[in-house]
Amino acid sequence: MHPHLSEILFDQQTIAARVQTLGAEIDAVYQGKSPLLVGILKGSFVFLADLCRALTCDCRFDFLIVSSYGDRTESSGIVKIVKDLSVNIEGKDVLFVEDILDSGFTMRYIMEMMQLRNPASLRVCTLFDKPSRRRADIQADFIGFEIPDKFVVGYGLDYAQKYRNIPYLGVLSPDHV
Ligand code: IMP
Ligand code: MG
Repeated sequence: MHPHLSEILFDQQTIAARVQTLGAEIDAVYQGKSPLLVGILKGSFVFLADLCRALTCDCRFDFLIVSSYGDRTESSGIVKIVKDLSVNIEGKDVLFVEDILDSGFTMRYIMEMMQLRNPASLRVCTLFDKPSRRRADIQADFIGFEIPDKFVVGYGLDYAQKYRNIPYLGVLSPDHV
């Protein structure tokens, strides 16, 4: 285990297996459609890379870069769009792919903004969900794992931009926060 972690929540095999079944759930919903998958960067890049290879539907990709945290473990509640989408989503089936839903402020803000662009449908897939921390009115359509109220890193998730390349999900030990 990485020395800055206090525990492993999900190992590589467990995550890989769930990503496969999530892929099947998503495929079933988008049968006969060509969804646009939008990765919310930076956190979702590892998940999206694995998830897209678990899909058989005909999909396209785009990315949104947002920042809401600074280098802390609490959401500021203020969401900044660092890079907007590069395509027009009007009339498209859009699936936002997120690493984790915590307070929900980030996703709520993104959904409100994207709804104004008149997509055919708008859904959210998050790999990890901390429902006990929710403060904004938002629910994901596809959820990989529910997790307790702990600050986690790895598999794309960071603390102060570190630990994204750890291949499993672990809890950051208090000495390193
Ligand atoms: P929210 O706006 O509070 O829902 O926060 C969403 C964003 O905060 C996620 O996309 C993550 O980038 C980050 N985040 C929330 N919880 C964690 C965590 O436990 N570890 C690492 N990043 C987190
Ligand atoms: Mg982050």
